[in-house]
Amino acid sequence: MALFEELIKKYDSLSLNTKNTDIIEFNMNTQIEISQMFENLSEDRSWSFEELTRKDTSYATHGFHKYPAKFIPQLARRCIEEYTKEEDVVCDPFMGCGTTLVEALVSGRKAIGTDINAVAWLITNTKSIPINPDKLNKEVERILNDIEIYLLSSKKQVQKTLSLRTNPIILENERINYWFPNENTREELGIILGRINEIKNKNVKNFCLCAFSNILKGSSIWLMKSIKPTRDLNKKPSTPYKAFSRQIKMMLMGNKELYDLMPEQVRNNLKEHFFAKKQDARSLPCKPNSVSLIITSPPYVTSYEYADLHQLTALWLEYAKDVAQFREGFIGSIHKKEFNHIGIKSELAKQEIEQLNKKSKREAETVRNYFVEMQQCFEEMHRVLKPKGKACIVIGNTELRKVPILNAEVFVEIMLNIGFKIHKIVKRIIPSKILPQTRDSKTGRFTSNHKADRLAYAYEYIIMMEKI
Ligand SMILES: C[S@@+](CC[C@H](N)C(=O)[O-])C[C@H]1O[C@@H](n2cnc3c(N)ncnc32)[C@H](O)[C@@H]1O
Repeated sequence: MALFEELIKKYDSLSLNTKNTDIIEFNMNTQIEISQMFENLSEDRSWSFEELTRKDTSYATHGFHKYPAKFIPQLARRCIEEYTKEEDVVCDPFMGCGTTLVEALVSGRKAIGTDINAVAWLITNTKSIPINPDKLNKEVERILNDIEIYLLSSKKQVQKTLSLRTNPIILENERINYWFPNENTREELGIILGRINEIKNKNVKNFCLCAFSNILKGSSIWLMKSIKPTRDLNKKPSTPYKAFSRQIKMMLMGNKELYDLMPEQVRNNLKEHFFAKKQDARSLPCKPNSVSLIITSPPYVTSYEYADLHQLTALWLEYAKDVAQFREGFIGSIHKKEFNHIGIKSELAKQEIEQLNKKSKREAETVRNYFVEMQQCFEEMHRVLKPKGKACIVIGNTELRKVPILNAEVFVEIMLNIGFKIHKIVKRIIPSKILPQTRDSKTGRFTSNHKADRLAYAYEYIIMMEKI
């Protein structure tokens, strides 16, 4: 035990000295030692990036689209610079809106990402592929012009003059009517989408679809600050064309910034540097021992329901026939129907599940399934990483029915048991300006601020593990 305490001391001082990238060798096999290690961790404020403004964190394409629980680009960049060199492969199995991938490309690395969410794929693709700014400006001008003429003219005239370029989309879907009760709004969105669908160049088309996707919540009666799908019957939705035009003009500037920032050898050979796929993180599109660094923030259990939150895009772009179908495959979802019965390689996880089981069998089973599925993800990460390659997992702990769900400790235990060793663990305070969510202490679920009785995730961890 004395040796272990020595290591913790050494480890604490090292984590404060952020320039020091020494590998610390731990030899811990028990959950008690892991728990003690976390208890003794001190905060490392250099990973909080408190000085950054919203402008800093949304530079280039990073502000293209809202995305729940995205991490800041500076965090990903620091890991990339510390652990890789140019042309190394960086992978994010839960890429979300592509923060890691954009940062990898801008720093001259190769970027691979997966996400089960088709909306994540659309956003990541748009944010990672710079388009020649002059060509894009001209094309967008034409598109906006066409839509504007269509909207200004009477429909009869328009069908004569613009029938080749604008074919409004009319979707007969009761969920669309539910979120967009105003017929004019639906029509205007249909006209914009119809014009986008006529675009031949797939990168320009995705660029416009991404802009379209980001205006949907504002154009609907979705209660804006809610992270649960809730209707706001008093809301005055924004006018789709105005919102689309504003959004796409902002994106034009971001695209130019990315175009100028991306090293030429990456931009000119993007196919060899960038690969993003709508795919399950348990089956990565990578050869064994090929990846130098994984940076990712996994989904949490029963918190954000990504499929529900992105249902407006999924409905308009017809990614799924309904929300139930769209939810398939999401790890951590409360809506899981089939449970996985593989054993969990973590004693801590088993203790937490046992405690939760006394309060809610259903939730205990959901948490068990979550850890099993995350274990499968870690096994897949181990397969694709090069020996000595690092996996940096950004994760916070949580609570369900007052039972602590110590994700970070459980992940470390599982990863130690499948062939990783600890490189470094950082405890980072999340600056309050980017901590909007609160949790209900009874259910542990996210809730709106006014109903909240405590803050969630005041701090989180970056678990940096190394493949043995
Ligand atoms: C915390 S978010 C990642 C955010 C990301 N770091 C960013 O900056 O945008 C977790 C992601 O995991 C994805 N996800 C959930 N289940 C998945 C699965 N089985 N395979 C791949 N991705 C999954 C969700 O769609 C979500 O985008």
